[in-house]
Amino acid sequence: MASQTLREARKYEEMAEAQIPQEARPAFHLSPRAGWMNDPNGFSWYQGMYHMFYQYHPYSSYWGPMHWGHAVSRDLLHWEYLPAALAPDMPYDKDGCFSGSALELADGRQMLMYTGVLHEPQPDGSFHEIQTQCIALGDGRDYEKLPENPVLTEKALPEGGSRYDFRDPKAWLGEDGRYYCVAGNCTGDKDGQILLYSSADGLHWQYEGILAKNNGRFGRMWECPDFFELDGKHVLLTSPQDMLPRGFEYHNGNGTLCLIGSYEKEGHVFTEEHDQSIDYGIDFYAPQTVLTPDGRRVMIGWMQNWDTCNMRSQPKTWFGQMSLPRELSVREGRLYQKPVRELEELRRNKVEYHGVKVAGEALRLAGIEGRTVDMELEIAPAQGRELYRKFAVRFAQDQERHTAISFRPHESILKIDRKFSGSRRAIIHQRRSLVRHEGGALRLRIVLDRFSAEVFVWDGEQVLTATIDTPLSADGISFYADGEAVLDVVKYDLM
Ligand code: FRU
Repeated sequence: MASQTLREARKYEEMAEAQIPQEARPAFHLSPRAGWMNDPNGFSWYQGMYHMFYQYHPYSSYWGPMHWGHAVSRDLLHWEYLPAALAPDMPYDKDGCFSGSALELADGRQMLMYTGVLHEPQPDGSFHEIQTQCIALGDGRDYEKLPENPVLTEKALPEGGSRYDFRDPKAWLGEDGRYYCVAGNCTGDKDGQILLYSSADGLHWQYEGILAKNNGRFGRMWECPDFFELDGKHVLLTSPQDMLPRGFEYHNGNGTLCLIGSYEKEGHVFTEEHDQSIDYGIDFYAPQTVLTPDGRRVMIGWMQNWDTCNMRSQPKTWFGQMSLPRELSVREGRLYQKPVRELEELRRNKVEYHGVKVAGEALRLAGIEGRTVDMELEIAPAQGRELYRKFAVRFAQDQERHTAISFRPHESILKIDRKFSGSRRAIIHQRRSLVRHEGGALRLRIVLDRFSAEVFVWDGEQVLTATIDTPLSADGISFYADGEAVLDVVKYDLM
C-alpha cells in the first residue's frame, strides 16, 4: 500500500502535469512530470519496456525532499509517465530518497536500490545527513520498501569512509550469477572513492572493497558511479564534485569523469589506463547506463549543471531534462558516444547541400531552420585558399538572439556559446573544448530539441551539451566563416 506521502505526490503530479503545455517541454528528451528533476535513476529494461526513474521534487521547480519520478518508453525517445515510485516516507529515508538503480530479480520482481537520507541533529543545532542504501521491490509501477531496510549502513564502510557521503548505488547482475553494486563515498577529508558490494540474492549485501580511489586527482566526493564492461575494457563513470580545471579536459565545479581500464574479477582489481571527461559542454551530470536487450550500452545524463540550475531568467513550472540516450563504445582508450539509433526513426524532411562556400556574412540556406533538428555538418578548408580562421553555426536565432558553435582551426578549439540565447543571468554561458581536426576539416552532428543542443564531434569522439531558454519563435540557423570554408550539410526535422 502506498504511503500517504506517496499518494499525495501522485495526486499532486497528475494535477500539475495537466497545467504544463506540451510545447513548453522538450519533444523527445524526458522532463519531469511536474516540478523539479535531477539525476537519472533506475535506468533499466523490465517487462518489455525501458524504465527511467529520476530525482524528483514534484511540488516546486526547485530541489526539495527527493522522491523518485517514473517514466517508461519503448524507444528511449517517447516517454510515458507512470505515478511517482518512491517518496521519503520511512524513518530511514524521511529526508530524501536519493539516487540509485534498478534491476530484475530472479523471481521477476523489479528491485530499486536507492540512498535513504536522514538528518541527524548535531549538538550545535546543525545537522548531518546520514546516508544508507535501501531497497524497494515492485511490479514496474508500485513498490514496497523492504522491512529490513537499510541494507547497507556505515557498518559496510571501509575504515575512514564517511557515513555522510555514501550514496548512489548502481547494481547489476554479474556473469557469475552474483549481484554487484558500486556506490560513491569519500574519506573524512572528502577525497572520493568508489566502493564495491556483492550479494547472492540482491537483498543481502556484503562489502567487497574499494574499486577506485581519487587520491586528490579529480575533484572531491565522487557521485553516481556506474561500472561495466565494454569492447574488451572496463569503464567506470562517476561525477566528481568540486573539480578544478585541467587544461580543456576538466572544468571547474561538478563534472564528469570516465576511467577506462582493465578489471580482474577474482580480486576485484580495477586498473586505470585512461581518463577523460564524459561531456565537454555546460550541462551534463550524473549519467547512468542500461544494457539494451540487443546488447548496446546506452547512457543518459542529467542535462544540467548544479552551479547554474537555480539561476533562472524567468520563473518555471518545471525544471530539469535528461540528455539524449547515447550509445557507448570504447576505441583505443576513448569513450565514444552516438545518439541512439532510434533517433533516426524520427527524421523527416531531409534537406542537403554540398560544397557550399561560406565566407564572411551569415549565410542562410533554404529549408535549414527549426528547433527540433538533427543536422550533420562537414566543414572543410577551401581548396587553394588560406586556411579559414573561424567557422560558426548559429541556431535558435532571431534578430536579437542566437546560440553558436564555433571552431578555430588554428587553435583547435570548438566553443559552444549561449550568451546571446536570451539569458539574463551572469552564469557560465560558454565552454571551449580542444578537438581534433584534419587540416581544417571537421565533422559535427548537432541535435536540437527546443531547449537544448547536443554537439557530437567526429561521430562521438567528443560531445558538448548545453541547455537554452530561448523562445521557440527563434528558429533560424545560419553559417559564418572568417576566411573561406566549404560546407556539406544534411539536415532533418525530428518529429
Ligand atoms: C548528484 C546527487 C546525488 C544524490 C542526488 C540527490 O546530482 O547529488 O549524489 O543522490 O543528487 O538529489
